[in-house]
Amino acid sequence: MAAQINPSILSADFARLADEAEAVKGADWLHVDVMDNHFVPNLTLGVPIVESLSRATDTPLDCHLMIEDPDRWAPQYVEAGAGSVTFHVEAAAAPVRLAREIRAKGARASMALKPATPIEPYEDLLPELDMLLIMTVEPGFGGQAFLDIMLPKIRRTRELISRHGLQMWLQVDGGVSAETIERCAEAGADVFVAGSAVYGTEDPAATVRALRAQAER
Ligand code: DX5
Ligand code: ZN
Repeated sequence: MAAQINPSILSADFARLADEAEAVKGADWLHVDVMDNHFVPNLTLGVPIVESLSRATDTPLDCHLMIEDPDRWAPQYVEAGAGSVTFHVEAAAAPVRLAREIRAKGARASMALKPATPIEPYEDLLPELDMLLIMTVEPGFGGQAFLDIMLPKIRRTRELISRHGLQMWLQVDGGVSAETIERCAEAGADVFVAGSAVYGTEDPAATVRALRAQAER
């Protein structure tokens, strides 16, 4: 299966974002973690920075919104230049309407599940989505340890996607590294977010290539 590696700029130097995007040239997407200090206990960046970053790099932006009221904000990230927008189902008032709005505005629509949120209640929503994100840490911070107990959920979600004959992507985010990526791929993930495992290395672009090769093994 073709694997995509999305470096998370949460682990990059926020004062040098354009250079940090360049440092992972060859990555499939740039993962942009938007946090509002309400949905998660951390604060990062918002629409104006996404707008500037989308002008500064050719790598498409994968915006992960860890915010309250995504129904109101997500469309603005599409307008700011994001190619993919992920909202959390725990925060969305009307996930189907929101996914349709993101798609209608021209971006890929994606929905995220925190570790304690099961996939089963959302099975019927899958056709409305281009990607599903399974969090493999509690959202809020980079550099946390991968939660192995999420592997069965990844496996069950991949089965649901196949059973429905869907082409959607299955993303994992949190603690993905050379030590854990093969387990995620084996369970059925095909899009891998990696923050500290990429930006913590000497040659981030080479690390992206190495992780991709490992996931496709
Ligand atoms: C965590 C963020 C992740 C984070 C991953 O809430 O959603 O994208 O950057 O960082 P690592 O790969 O270091 O776990
Ligand atoms: Zn993320």
